[in-house]
Amino acid sequence: MLLYIANVLTADELDRLHSQLNSDDFIDGKATAGWHARLVKRNTQLRSDAPILPKVQSVIEQALKQNPLFQMAALPKTLSPILFSRYETGMSYGSHVDNAFMGDATRMRSDLSLTLFLSEPTAYAGGELVIESTQGEQSFKLDAGSMVLYPSSTLHRVEPVVEGVRMAAVAWVQSLVKEVTEREILFDLETARQAIFAKHGKTAEFDLLSKTYANLLRKWGDL
Ligand code: NI
Repeated sequence: MLLYIANVLTADELDRLHSQLNSDDFIDGKATAGWHARLVKRNTQLRSDAPILPKVQSVIEQALKQNPLFQMAALPKTLSPILFSRYETGMSYGSHVDNAFMGDATRMRSDLSLTLFLSEPTAYAGGELVIESTQGEQSFKLDAGSMVLYPSSTLHRVEPVVEGVRMAAVAWVQSLVKEVTEREILFDLETARQAIFAKHGKTAEFDLLSKTYANLLRKWGDL
């Protein structure tokens, strides 16, 4: 399941991030890629010892924590540290799959990947995130503050930026529910349950759906 989530960040938060993300703090992004992804990764990333890093990471972490659609779709158990990437003109990230396991001290499995666009689409040319699937390719170039959430199991790439600068925040999620098909069933059920509650309140049907949701989460979820 691919999910597009609009307005994850407010205009204020975006302004704050842009004023704090100084291009001098960005270094070659190859350091955080697997050995094969490194061959096609041509971007820069905010260095891990940049003094501003915890502050800017926390803006994104808080926004994700408070986003009901993200919480519902991802059912996050662990969120990776947020990475900030910057593609200048001529940079790209060729087709690759993200590492299945990440982290050194605390290991996590990447079930979902997310890209949160920080630059307005008018600020650069090219730079689309392209996700490859058996149904074909899907291309994303979203408004600043919007994000796409997609299975980490896919091949994906960032097209060359041919003009301007593309900034994005990227992260990975280990979900409480490992299987993508099961997560999708839970997402649909929860969407229906909330719609029924909004229309009719806490009816017997709502209670039955709530029971089913909770029991499927118990069955499929892992803490
Ligand atoms: Ni990737």
